[in-house]
Amino acid sequence: MANELHHPLIQHHLTGLRDKSTPPHLFREHIRRLTLLLAYEATRSLPLSSTEIETPLKKTQGEKLSCRIGLVPILRAGLGMSAAVQDLIPESEVWHLGFYRDESTHQPVEYYRKFSAAPPDIAFVLDPMLATGGSASESIQIVKTWGVGKISLLSIIAAPEGISKVEANHPDVEIFTCSIDDHLNENAYIVPGLGDAGDRIFNTF
Ligand code: PRP
Ligand code: URA
Repeated sequence: MANELHHPLIQHHLTGLRDKSTPPHLFREHIRRLTLLLAYEATRSLPLSSTEIETPLKKTQGEKLSCRIGLVPILRAGLGMSAAVQDLIPESEVWHLGFYRDESTHQPVEYYRKFSAAPPDIAFVLDPMLATGGSASESIQIVKTWGVGKISLLSIIAAPEGISKVEANHPDVEIFTCSIDDHLNENAYIVPGLGDAGDRIFNTF
């Protein structure tokens, strides 16, 4: 299922993100703010357990997150999102997956994986761009094979083609996005999109 979020702050920061005159340091700020808004929605159903604490006035009941949470940024561009989610969930674990798209076939090629023996209970796969859906589908499959039971995908911009692919391959995975864009062009870039997210984050044009 794909959730496209609607909020004035999302529209505002998306506009800054898409604008080709936005320099990398401001681009990274827009990515960070949009990720915080996406993560706020995507974490709504995290499980809690009761705990007793003492305020300066009295004992009371509180609630704490009760599961291990893994963040899986897809290198490189996903790195622009993981620190923002870590700020919201300081106890989360970050496990990295590296993929690049082959320029002619547009197929994802894995080049890095850093996973532990014991998978977390819940994983958030982070990648700002969901284009053909190849990288996200492969990544989600790897996270499933690792043993994670519940997975969500956070993508700032998604193409309809990518959403269809992830939904077909992984109907159990919820997708959260700030925008479902129009289409992919002949180079499998999202239109209107924002260009190459990794290059704009890391200033590698
Ligand atoms: C981009 C993006 C996704 C992928 C999306 O990465 O960050 O990982 O393309 O495309 P897909 O849905 O068609 O698979 P890219 O390959 O440009 O690598 P980078 O993050 O290192 O720039
Ligand atoms: N990767 C990007 O960074 N941008 C796109 O539009 C498609 C894939």
